[in-house]
Amino acid sequence: MSFHTSTPRTPAAGAPFYTPAQDPPAGTALQASSPAVPTLFSPLHLRGLTLTNRFAVSPMCMDSADDGHLTDFHLVSLGGWAMRGVALTIVEATAVLANGRIVPEDSGLWKDSQIAPLKRVVDFIHSQGQKAGIQLGHAGRKASILSSQVERHPGMQTEVATPEQGGWPENVWAPSAIPYSATYATPKEMTLEDIAEVIQAFADASARAVQAGFDTIEIHAAHGYLLSESLSPITNRRIDTYGGSFENRTRLLREVIAAVRAVIPEQMPLLVRISATEWMEWTAKESWDVPQSLRLAKMLPDLGVDLLDVSTGGNNKDQKIVIHPYYQVDIAGQIREAVRAESGGKKMLIGAVGLVTTAEMARSIVQQSDKEGVYGVRDDGTLAAAAADLEGTVEVETEHGQKTRADLVLVGRQFLRDPNFVLRTAHELGVDVQWPRQFRRGKFS
Ligand SMILES: Cc1cc2nc3c(=O)[nH]c(=O)nc-3n(C[C@H](O)[C@H](O)[C@H](O)COP(=O)(O)O)c2cc1C
Repeated sequence: MSFHTSTPRTPAAGAPFYTPAQDPPAGTALQASSPAVPTLFSPLHLRGLTLTNRFAVSPMCMDSADDGHLTDFHLVSLGGWAMRGVALTIVEATAVLANGRIVPEDSGLWKDSQIAPLKRVVDFIHSQGQKAGIQLGHAGRKASILSSQVERHPGMQTEVATPEQGGWPENVWAPSAIPYSATYATPKEMTLEDIAEVIQAFADASARAVQAGFDTIEIHAAHGYLLSESLSPITNRRIDTYGGSFENRTRLLREVIAAVRAVIPEQMPLLVRISATEWMEWTAKESWDVPQSLRLAKMLPDLGVDLLDVSTGGNNKDQKIVIHPYYQVDIAGQIREAVRAESGGKKMLIGAVGLVTTAEMARSIVQQSDKEGVYGVRDDGTLAAAAADLEGTVEVETEHGQKTRADLVLVGRQFLRDPNFVLRTAHELGVDVQWPRQFRRGKFS
């Protein structure tokens, strides 16, 4: 087995504390050029960012912040995943305004004092040679509830957080004044001034995220939170320029994307998470669905979005989800195919998420043929490929006859169960990857 040359005494460059350089970072394939290495352990380029493998920690609210400030809990949990080989660790949904938190203990970035604890997490992730992202969002009508970790009254799935409990039920905002359910606050329909404030807040929080040192930002437009509510004809009943037609319902998201892109460095990739369907097709009424997501997806590269993270659902209590292991991943694949089939134009990569629990599933989602090679989005937004004949390639069949469904695999709950999921996956797939220096004696054998 060959290890790279830096000794444990070589400090990690730029880290504000001593820790040995992880060179290359944990989770990097040691025989990267071998054709036997699956795409899962090949690098991914997103604008100026290179990820060492195709794993990302999907953003997960921990309901543990102190007035929006992250704590040592976040440092340890997020840092632990990065240390164990996740190329991109994305900090949980972080509210751009105080009333955009779901629960009072959510992460926030609406004021400058929230930068320092985030920077501490970023510095640690960087000290491990890995990359850090942050998901920025506004909870819309799903704001001001009690954390699920708090004991609730019997039979209550959710409960409004009252002012005494740190909530703000009188100041919950949404595109339209329609509550999510009887156990949520009734939102106030946003005025045009409120909308302008939200857009500005996304820009301000993004500028703070840049100050904290993040490598990328994900805009949260999924799961029935504000931007997702705005996309849906069920939750957006506005009659002004932010409601009605597809053009109008997508306006808020498009304006947020433009505002964020305008304040982040040119080389920083921008991610967007959507719910590709709100699973309300069964009502036979107009709802946000995959065809509209495809239409939106094709518009995003020109707005400067580098990766679309495809989730689903969360906007309606009456959603009916057809669940199977690939229920979301397949939708990601459909969108990837459509985006890549667009002739000319800029290209955008796709992230898949949902129910990824095994090495084989993670491998098969991103696996490409040898012909496709390592690729990513070039600085000018077009697709860069190791294989010269990639341009024009619409889709690739893997050796199992399955299509490549995504470029990045986002994993949530499996990392809660098994923080070693990346290292374990490598072992199960027979890929020799770098381990964190200090843990090498525990390598799977
Ligand atoms: C504890 C927990 C918190 C979550 N918080 C967020 C969040 O902040 N933002 C988000 O977009 N999704 C959130 N999700 C959804 C996950 O990111 C992920 O999309 C979902 O769990 C499906 O992936 P999985 O099957 O790998 O867990 C959360 C999920 C869990 C389990």
